[in-house]
Amino acid sequence: MAERLAASFSPSSCLLPAASKRTAQPSSAALPFLPSPRRLHSTSSCSLRRVPSPLRLFQTAAIGSRRTTSVVVCAASDPAQLRSAREDIKELLKTTFCHPILVRLGWHDAGTYDKNIAEWPKRGGANGSLRFEIELKHAANAGLVNALKLLQSVKDKYSSITYADLFQLASATAIEEAGGPKIPMKYGRVDVSGPEQCPEEGRLPDAGPPSPAGHLRNVFYRMGLDDKEIVALSGAHTLGRSRPERSGWGKAETKYTKDGPGAPGGQSWTVQWLKFDNSYFRDIKEGKDEDLLILPTDAVLFEDSHFKVYAEKYAEDEDAFFKDYAEAHAKLSNLGAKFNPPEGISMADDDSNKTVTRKPFVAAASYSDED
Ligand code: HEM
Repeated sequence: MAERLAASFSPSSCLLPAASKRTAQPSSAALPFLPSPRRLHSTSSCSLRRVPSPLRLFQTAAIGSRRTTSVVVCAASDPAQLRSAREDIKELLKTTFCHPILVRLGWHDAGTYDKNIAEWPKRGGANGSLRFEIELKHAANAGLVNALKLLQSVKDKYSSITYADLFQLASATAIEEAGGPKIPMKYGRVDVSGPEQCPEEGRLPDAGPPSPAGHLRNVFYRMGLDDKEIVALSGAHTLGRSRPERSGWGKAETKYTKDGPGAPGGQSWTVQWLKFDNSYFRDIKEGKDEDLLILPTDAVLFEDSHFKVYAEKYAEDEDAFFKDYAEAHAKLSNLGAKFNPPEGISMADDDSNKTVTRKPFVAAASYSDED
């Protein structure tokens, strides 16, 4: 399956030694796959315009490092293409079970935002910068090259969708398809054009800092998010697994992950880790299953008195969690983004702004498939 394939092609730059955790320095090895010049141009959401030297900028290709002498003019995403791409992403999810890594991709592109910096794209955020090797090699992004590889065929097909929109579309679609709430999304995010516009390393949270509550507040307040949003967004760990060879956290495998689906292994936070529900909060509160992961930054949600109010509420009331999660996810997806047009684009058939609804959970039906 594609995720397994992608994982097996993982470049060494994405494999971190377990003991080194987030502070490990990624290898400087180049990513092993370079797009052909034709593909380089056709996969960009942006049109390439020749300009005279010395005004030429160098664009390092998405998931590659071949250089061109062109300025990239970024186009806004097209609503019809967005709708169609969403259907393709649904198919990708059905066949590869890559919901978790797509959510992590969207979060890591947006989560570099710094509200104290006004200038775009210096302020970071949802601007597609995570497609560049220099940012993919940040220790916090270990393994996310696989998410890019999974999405490349969608990007190839829908040339007018920006990377920034594609990452957020994929993430919101993954949440919804896993049985989570409808996310009130808008699109039209403009892409950064070159690796020199990527944020510096160190803007994303650590899983095991000396003071987890203080650390979470430092990082998320910098993004303009509050305690309720920190707790609600942490609930995304209802999906997915941690892999020691990527982040340094988690077990190599557990009874819940040894058979996949997707590439086997890692340690999940929940038993049904492809189902979006409030079990993350219930499982941390119970804390009894050694096969389930609780990071220091997860545990603190029930230890800090302000976080605890929300964590307890979400453990009891899944509807409250879904409502707050949907709002916080939409806000996260817009952080730092520059929209064209400024008000953003809604998908015409998108009913997401009407109600917070949920789709029936279907991913569980696939647990015994393949693998
Ligand atoms: C609160 C601070 C956070 C910390 C310290 C943290 C840390 C981590 C770590 C260590 C992993 C394991 C990565 C790996 O080994 O592959 C992970 C995975 C994941 N994170 Fe977070 N995270 C945080 C917040 C978030 C947020 C806000 C979201 C989304 C809104 C999110 C979504 C995910 C998902 C879905 C995965 C699973 C990825 C997969 O299975 O491939 N996380 N996170």
